[in-house]
Amino acid sequence: MKFSKIKLRNTLKKIPSNEKVWREFEKNPPAFSDLLKQDTTIIQKFADTERKKWRSVLILGIGGSSLGAQAIISALAVKNSPEFYFLDNLDPIETHTVLKKINLRQTLVLVITKSGGTLETMAQFFAIRKKLKRQQIIAITDAKDGFLRQFAEQEKLITFEIPRNIGGRFSALTPVGLVPAALAGVKITSILNGAKAVNPREAFEFARVHAAEFKRGKNISACCTYSSQLRKFNEWYSQLLGESIGKNSQTGVTPTTAIGATDQHSQLQLWSDGPNDKFFIFSRVMNFGIDYNISNPPTEFKFLAKKSFTEILNTEFLATTQALIERKRSLATFEIPQVNAQNLGWLLSFFQFEIALLGKILKVNPFNQPGVERSKILAHKLLTR
Ligand code: PA5
Repeated sequence: MKFSKIKLRNTLKKIPSNEKVWREFEKNPPAFSDLLKQDTTIIQKFADTERKKWRSVLILGIGGSSLGAQAIISALAVKNSPEFYFLDNLDPIETHTVLKKINLRQTLVLVITKSGGTLETMAQFFAIRKKLKRQQIIAITDAKDGFLRQFAEQEKLITFEIPRNIGGRFSALTPVGLVPAALAGVKITSILNGAKAVNPREAFEFARVHAAEFKRGKNISACCTYSSQLRKFNEWYSQLLGESIGKNSQTGVTPTTAIGATDQHSQLQLWSDGPNDKFFIFSRVMNFGIDYNISNPPTEFKFLAKKSFTEILNTEFLATTQALIERKRSLATFEIPQVNAQNLGWLLSFFQFEIALLGKILKVNPFNQPGVERSKILAHKLLTR
């Protein structure tokens, strides 16, 4: 797979080289790079047997313990796969709707939490636990620490380990994303092959531009994919960018997401004529696998004759990016040959490298989240009172 078509168009004259950051990265690569060498045989074997047994898979997890799997599952629909449901909130109506749709007895439940004790995830689990048999609960958590690890050992649950040094939003390529993917019938070796194909230096070049744009006031990033299949991927990237870079009361890029062509009809006016405070990340898909063609349109729409949806969508992509360049907006464009396991693996890995490097360039720790932890502590305190 070649992602040679990353284009960075910006109006910056000079971008700092940041070679020191690159040398440091080469000497001391982030922990998630080790995942590229992992052996996924156990996950694959487990999934091959389990996926035939269950009608649905219910995933309880939140933030980094859910969004990676959501990005993979929603982008890569596989035939004959169990139905997937995600509960990543405590909205009782949403929970009720999901529980009404599934037959719990025919559902495999994945409880995913790195810390092993996140309130929302555990509350969801405790609400249904009594209705579940031991064999239908899978715990994906830290190898040693946390409530869920202890509970799983006590109850002899099947477990998968999240590597010690890898945190929530950087865990899509651990069992957090790979177990659900394999259960959905996605070839997880293909995801990893795509991830391995990333050239971190390319991610660094992108991070350099992103950092330079932030420093000159573009503290909003608009991530717009011309594919509805990548909606959840956008959400995943939003979390990665927002939570990793928002630090020290002065550094942070506010992530926003959009889907082309839909949001041309809601956000484009702002992007084009509003304040020039955004860095745009546009991606388009070159081949959707299936297509629709326009046949015999009326004279007024003759220009659409024999055109396919893909062609129209991609032309709109070109028109929109061109219009933004005319308005001197800075943007990066990505051409995704097709949304498949390999290319999604590439995207997940590329942006993990990008954000890790962006954090280093902007001198913040991209791997912690003290603001999130503080809220977790306060919520716990208030509930204990
Ligand atoms: O990226 C992060 O670290 C967070 O978003 C966590 O994923 C989220 O808070 C859930 O935490 P846990 O996996 O411990 O349940």
